[in-house]
Amino acid sequence: MSDDHPRDRWGAGYIGSHAVLEVLQAGHRVVVLDNLCNGSLLALHRVEALTGQAVTFVQGDVRDRALLDALFAKHAISSVVHFAGLKAVGESIDKPLAYYESNVYGTLVLCQAMAAAGVYRLVFSSSATVYGVEAPVPYVETLPRGTTSNPYVSSKAMVETMLEDLQAADPRWSMVLLRYFNPIGAHPSGVIGEDPQGIPNNLMPYISQVAVGRQAELEAVAGGGKRHSPVKTCQSRGHSRHPHSRRERAGGHENRQPGASRRHHDLSLRHAD
Ligand SMILES: NC(=O)c1ccc[n+]([C@@H]2O[C@H](COP(=O)([O-])OP(=O)(O)OC[C@H]3O[C@@H](n4cnc5c(N)ncnc54)[C@H](O)[C@@H]3O)[C@@H](O)[C@H]2O)c1
Repeated sequence: MSDDHPRDRWGAGYIGSHAVLEVLQAGHRVVVLDNLCNGSLLALHRVEALTGQAVTFVQGDVRDRALLDALFAKHAISSVVHFAGLKAVGESIDKPLAYYESNVYGTLVLCQAMAAAGVYRLVFSSSATVYGVEAPVPYVETLPRGTTSNPYVSSKAMVETMLEDLQAADPRWSMVLLRYFNPIGAHPSGVIGEDPQGIPNNLMPYISQVAVGRQAELEAVAGGGKRHSPVKTCQSRGHSRHPHSRRERAGGHENRQPGASRRHHDLSLRHAD
């Protein structure tokens, strides 16, 4: 395996599976690490069918330092896109330690393993919720992080701070913090999309499950607006472009908000394509 064919690490979850597809189609190779607590091997098999290319998959946990060391030793990994984590706001309020362990400690272990392996390019899946409840809409990338409202958001803000500190201490690090808000949609083929385990925590998969009969009904609360970035594949393309567009550049970190920042009311999602 040579650096002419560097491998990147992506995911088997909703956004990760779309990103794997995009990066394979862009001619790169991929190693996926996922503990499958909310991901699906079926999604990766479908990505393989869509692209005609094999995906190297390892079932394991991002907090497992020995496993990460073995992965970096075995594969010529040039950059990492980090999707692995827990993402349910309500659950994070009930189980804050689980969220800090998975999201904050998991990223810390990943960074330690990357540095030990000499891999310094990282794209982190953050969230636009780090702008805080007081931030004006539409969000722009120059907004500061605001007041966090739950442990999930706090975990993302903590990781952002940790990564900024790390990059400031060692300019070899090149980091992108991708902040998105409730991405929705699916690949145009329709064979991969968002299919969370259990009861969906986000609105669009809930609507989809009502449509196919997996949930009985959706209760719509008048005036309850949410912001959604409309096109999933665009976001995944954002992921697939970022690490490579920065390949020639030395160090630094940047904040990115893939997709549009238009505001969509909950009811408007019923009419989404
Ligand atoms: N989907 C959204 O609305 C949204 C919005 C903003 C940010 N994000 C962030 O983007 C990332 C991906 O989101 P998604 O919607 O694809 O979620 P997802 O749950 O579909 O994907 C996350 C994947 O990470 C895996 N995972 C979780 N903990 C792990 C661990 N400790 N070790 C290894 N694998 C682990 C899960 O099995 C799953 O496949 C998450 O970090 C999430 O916080 C998502």
